[in-house]
Amino acid sequence: MSPEPEHTHRLVPAEDGSGVTLLTLHGTGANEDDLVPLGKELLPGAAILSPRGKVLENGMPRFFRRLAEGVFDEEDLVARTHELAAFVESAVEEYGLDPAKIVAVGYSNGANIAASLLLLHPGLLRAAVLFRSMVPFELETTPDLAGTPVLMAAATGDQIIPPDNAERLAGLLKEARAEVSLKWKQAGHALTYEEVEEARAWLSEVITDLS
Ligand code: MLT
Repeated sequence: MSPEPEHTHRLVPAEDGSGVTLLTLHGTGANEDDLVPLGKELLPGAAILSPRGKVLENGMPRFFRRLAEGVFDEEDLVARTHELAAFVESAVEEYGLDPAKIVAVGYSNGANIAASLLLLHPGLLRAAVLFRSMVPFELETTPDLAGTPVLMAAATGDQIIPPDNAERLAGLLKEARAEVSLKWKQAGHALTYEEVEEARAWLSEVITDLS
């Protein structure tokens, strides 16, 4: 018997036949409800699995601990990534989701743990949208992410994620043979409407190739 999913989470059942589940991963200080509207906008009708990060930083939920802004507690990050992967696997069983069609959509801290999931659990995610993400940790071995489309939405004026760090993450993912599309905007850490629109268009193309 599989363990109960251990993250507080929301599950929005699918209303279409695509079989896709969006795994929405929020930023620092948000929760399992906050990205549900974004998920609905990005891929209307898809199932949404939306966990809440288990770490609290001054009362704000996150997916892993950090020592300072942009300085991650790598041991915690790796452990939390495995824990999140186990949650996804048990939720797949619990809710009868298609394990081959889990697509991550992460923002900021959520995008960073999505990047970590890609690198530590290749094959778990069929595709990923990373809004404002950076290199989660230094890789010891390069995973094989061939056939995994990844959209990275980065901003030149991001106060939290240095542009060269986002470039470096794109480089790592490319080295792992992911199909990376890195899009730059002249914006800050907050997402722009245009980027949501671009992600929606990108996802609808990616999804067509899945079915
Ligand atoms: C992180 O801690 O994951 C990044 O610095 C982004 C954020 O502020 O959450």
